[in-house]
Amino acid sequence: MQICVIPGDGIGPEVLGAAVRVLQTLVPEVVLHEADAGWATFEQQGTALPGATLAAARAADAILFGAVASPSHSVPGYRSPIVQLRRELDLYANIRPVVGLPGRTPVDLVVVRENTEGLYAGRERLEDEGATAIAERVVTRRASQRIVQIACELARQRASERGRPGRVTIVHKANVLRVSDGLFRETALEVTRAFPDLVIEEQLVDVAAMRLAQSPERFDVVVTTNLFGDILSDVACIHGGGLGLAASSNLGDRQALFEPVHGAAPDIAGQGIANPLAAITCVALLLVRQGYREQATRLHNAIRQVQHDGPHTPDLGGTARTELVTEAVMSLL
Ligand code: NAI
Ligand code: MG
Repeated sequence: MQICVIPGDGIGPEVLGAAVRVLQTLVPEVVLHEADAGWATFEQQGTALPGATLAAARAADAILFGAVASPSHSVPGYRSPIVQLRRELDLYANIRPVVGLPGRTPVDLVVVRENTEGLYAGRERLEDEGATAIAERVVTRRASQRIVQIACELARQRASERGRPGRVTIVHKANVLRVSDGLFRETALEVTRAFPDLVIEEQLVDVAAMRLAQSPERFDVVVTTNLFGDILSDVACIHGGGLGLAASSNLGDRQALFEPVHGAAPDIAGQGIANPLAAITCVALLLVRQGYREQATRLHNAIRQVQHDGPHTPDLGGTARTELVTEAVMSLL
């Protein structure tokens, strides 16, 4: 198994270092190819996503990605490398599972986020001598079809694994974004007709955000466009213990990239206190896709146990360092 490892900026290298140690423990024969991306790479090489990184990502069996720091102001020549990677590798489905903490509300949901277009299509410009900014929101029938298809297949698979009916919630804002979300909604409803075994519902994004916060146990698979999915997955991850635990898969027809939902966390970077469990959970997701099911199950169980019994990093109210949490997971393997 050849894995491309892209640590990135901030806590990216800290949590991915932990994830790689766990991966090497479970699959000693794994071959790692480390590659650069992010803000530091941009400052050194003039590009946030060098061609060599893209080539390494294409050549590998799968990719582990840490996090990158993207400035909130416009920097000529800089584009978010993760957004670029998703588009270049056509990783069109961003799958973000949330499992509730033991002893709390039984949450078991997945946000399925369209990953290649929407408001992240990169079509932004200034007009009117800089006084007007225009951002184009791109929604295509093809991208909407394939994301809803994958969401329905996932709901069907989860229903059979769990022995209960599957439910897909289509989230949009078609009452205001009549054309773009109109197309998304219409296409989604068409696709879901082929899944009469699933309960299909639709919700406007604002009320969906409230319900995800208030009654997350009502949800199974949530499918939505790019920006809404980005925001809703951060809302939903609260029920799984927050950003320090939230992991995601970026899937295409050929390639797969696994990354924590969190970013570079500059407020805690360099202190050795980042929660590594999101990145370590990415390893479990990677192992399932690569066919290492037994190792993945062992890892999932170890993560659950550490989540429950500690040690916990400060984001979970503890005092443990990244290193100690990683050791705890490894000792359970
Ligand atoms: P963030 O996710 O980096 O951090 C939000 C908050 O959660 C911070 O208080 C941080 O300390 C905490 N946090 C995040 N991950 C944690 C972990 N593993 N353990 C403990 N605490 C953790 O989001 P923020 O602050 O909005 O963005 C920081 C930078 O990251 C920005 O430059 C942004 O562009 C970038 N970013 C990158 C992403 C990516 O690479 N996929 C995703 C989101 C943001
Ligand atoms: Mg996000």
